[in-house]
Amino acid sequence: MLQLRDGQGQPLAIRREDYVAPAWWIDTVDLTFDLDPAKTRVLNRMRLRRNPDSVGGPLRLDGDELNLARVLVDGQGASFRMEAGQLVIDNLPESFELEIFTTCCPVKNTKLMGLFVSENTFFTQCEAEGFRRITYFLDRPDVMASYTVTLRADKTAYPVLLSNGNLVDSGDLPEGRHFAKWVDPFRKPSYLFALVAGKLVAREQRITTRAGRDHLLQVYVRAGDLDKTEHAMNSLINSVLWDEARFGLPLDLDRFMIVATSDFNMGAMENKGLNIFNTKYVLANQATATDADYSNIESVVGHEYFHNWSGDRVTCRDWFQLSLKEGLTVFRDQEFSMDLCADASARAVKRIEDVRVLRTAQFPEDAGPMAHPVRPDSYIEISNFYTVTIYEKGAEVVRMMQTLVGRKGFEAGITLYFKRHDGQAVTCDDFAQAIADANLDSDLSRLLPQFKRWYSQAGTPRLAAHGHYDADARTYTLRFEQTCAPTPGQPLKLPFVIPVNLGLLDASGRELPLQLDGAADVVRGTRTLVLTESAQQFTFVGVDAEPVPSILRGFSAPVILDFDYSDAQLLTLLANDPDPFNRWEAGQRLALRSALKAIDDSAAPDAPVLDTAYIDAMAAVLRNPTLDAAFKELVLTLPSETYIAEQLPVVDPQRIHAVREAMRAQLATALFAQWEAAYDENHDTGAYTPDPRSSGRRALAGMALTFLCLAARASGDTVWPGKTLQRFKDAGNMTDRFNALSALVASGHSLAAPALARFHAIFKDEALVIDKWFSLQAGSPDRGGDVLPLVKQLMKHPDFSLKNPNRARSVIFSYCSANPGAFHRPDAAGYVFWSERVCELDAINPQVAARLARSLDRWSKLAEPYRSAAREAIARVAAKPDLSKDTQEVVNRALA
Ligand code: PHE
Ligand code: ZN
Repeated sequence: MLQLRDGQGQPLAIRREDYVAPAWWIDTVDLTFDLDPAKTRVLNRMRLRRNPDSVGGPLRLDGDELNLARVLVDGQGASFRMEAGQLVIDNLPESFELEIFTTCCPVKNTKLMGLFVSENTFFTQCEAEGFRRITYFLDRPDVMASYTVTLRADKTAYPVLLSNGNLVDSGDLPEGRHFAKWVDPFRKPSYLFALVAGKLVAREQRITTRAGRDHLLQVYVRAGDLDKTEHAMNSLINSVLWDEARFGLPLDLDRFMIVATSDFNMGAMENKGLNIFNTKYVLANQATATDADYSNIESVVGHEYFHNWSGDRVTCRDWFQLSLKEGLTVFRDQEFSMDLCADASARAVKRIEDVRVLRTAQFPEDAGPMAHPVRPDSYIEISNFYTVTIYEKGAEVVRMMQTLVGRKGFEAGITLYFKRHDGQAVTCDDFAQAIADANLDSDLSRLLPQFKRWYSQAGTPRLAAHGHYDADARTYTLRFEQTCAPTPGQPLKLPFVIPVNLGLLDASGRELPLQLDGAADVVRGTRTLVLTESAQQFTFVGVDAEPVPSILRGFSAPVILDFDYSDAQLLTLLANDPDPFNRWEAGQRLALRSALKAIDDSAAPDAPVLDTAYIDAMAAVLRNPTLDAAFKELVLTLPSETYIAEQLPVVDPQRIHAVREAMRAQLATALFAQWEAAYDENHDTGAYTPDPRSSGRRALAGMALTFLCLAARASGDTVWPGKTLQRFKDAGNMTDRFNALSALVASGHSLAAPALARFHAIFKDEALVIDKWFSLQAGSPDRGGDVLPLVKQLMKHPDFSLKNPNRARSVIFSYCSANPGAFHRPDAAGYVFWSERVCELDAINPQVAARLARSLDRWSKLAEPYRSAAREAIARVAAKPDLSKDTQEVVNRALA
């Protein structure tokens, strides 16, 4: 497609400030598809009318890679011109019927945007700007129309024909073809359009909701996969019930469909009534899917279902408002998963996992060249802004609102939001306003303009806290200072509203009553302090001895908290904090502290990294009968190499890798007896169910095996590797089987090779399991530079394909983005490999390429020789002719 370019020949940035309402509205769309893989014909009949509230102008319709055959205005041939890829028509009446006839070639569509073919089945993907690859249209989310869709195709090859809404007609056509006609009862933006046509089967379930309405739920898959749809269906039923119970939001359709495809750029898509999913987030049975897969399926099914309200009923005015639907919907799926937990401990585990994602993926994004506000100000390619900032940080912003107005107040806010904006395309401001308006006497309402800086300012705030105890006055004063580093285009930041959940413990770990100086009320447990200034202090009275502060409980704000804890204070928190998040956090701080010290200490590179106090504390955690296995597994997991790297001004990835591996070896040997006990106590979880409790036990047993095999590597012991191989062979579920395999691979044991071969042989016909097989190897710990040659060899495997995004990710991303110790090679071969793959992928699928391009976001922090070599590799990609604007935007920002 022709691109708009600036004076330097760079693609033009779209700016939020430039938003103008569309010159025309589209009221109805009547689409007829003659589906053919090589040449699909699309007849598009629309009713349009001038928008009286716009600045006016000609009709400009977006289009991309379409063959245009005919344009009729009110049934007459019309004159039009093509301008920068758009179809432009002048001199139109106030309202008219427009008929456009185009063709496209789904089988050649490797971008997987618009209409494409996957395993002989037609699918569409229209968010954000894919509908223009199907027909000419006002392809923007504020243009909402009523859709009628007729699908015609060969009946034998494509027996199932689906689109949004209700099936109103179907029947046979001449020459072995048939048709189906669908009407969507809701107006929608074009990005929510979908069709599916192919040989599929469905698991079906009829449900009656508490409102008394009947619905048909369907999960469509390929014939052999029906036995892997039970969990997705159960997750869907739970989602429907939860949204009604928690937020009073009912299912508004007679029929709700999920369809799985193995070729998909993202996780899943919330098309109205016809969600299209990556198979990875639908298919599961105990033999092929791990506990993590089960839990991801629950989240993603929930996420897409919840979009039916937060996204479909109320959508985004423009793509700068993307977090309006994504941040809110991630928040909703996180709450859903937590509410499904049976107890507080499982809820806390889920919270810790979510925060871990935020800190290992979003914090680096917010500190790097692609940093952008939750509501961005400009973009070149919107596909690049489906980021952890829009999704996960956006969810934290919504969560802070809930913290400020309380759970009940937040529910009232959500009710007002949907009442006020149902059927509209709105902005992040509209959302925040609704939550505030439903809570007029809240801090949120009082501080709303300042609170909204979370939407406009990029970067992670740093919160420095200092405690001062005055024994004579029996007071404890906490002083807070907040700062936020510059981000691209934003040199200076104003203070944020930061809700800080706080508790104070005495030296023996008991929670103290909290009374602020000058206030009458005494709070037992957690109190929320609301910070608004760059520096602010709070004094607590009636404090008998110096307390240990538990700050930012539950991670109440997405900030970096600096507090100069002593080791003793952290050990107190680790052993006693009633807030499980901060209990976990104390252990992470201790481990991080040792890691940073060892990384710095070049004088004694081989000295033990972890001290006895830490090892003893970990032993105590493992032995503690009151803690859940899932929580223990999180506490015993060391901070990731990426997280450690973020704490350092200059990053030597090999040094970080070596120190972290040394820490793991130390944990393996020093806690050998505890690992044996943990394995013995947790490895038998009985009949498989993916609930948090038993999956936590499997996770801890798996961790124990990994450490036992690591210890065996040091000692030469053969008993545990042998047991692990036996476990791999006998396992009754994929979680146990895969954990055993990983333990052999991670310890570099010679039994790993035969186990991998056996694993491949058993699962050769299960694409999602073969992805795991590739990914485990590409992500395995590097020993003397052996992983890159292995990765290159894996790419020559007959099962490898660059065109299938899941497969490309399982090999290339697992190496470039998830294996820093193997990727950052002193000889730069990892970076050369990266640049070649980015260029190769760019010609096939720009969205996937641009995502891979992000693996070197943090290049400027690297120590030499990595830094120069990484820069050179990025420059090589940037210099490639015909690079997509997706990848251009990423590499140009990296080099800026
Ligand atoms: N809107 C989808 C979601 O978050 C993600 C998506 C974006 C899928 C773009 C495909 C393309 O649920
Ligand atoms: Zn979403």
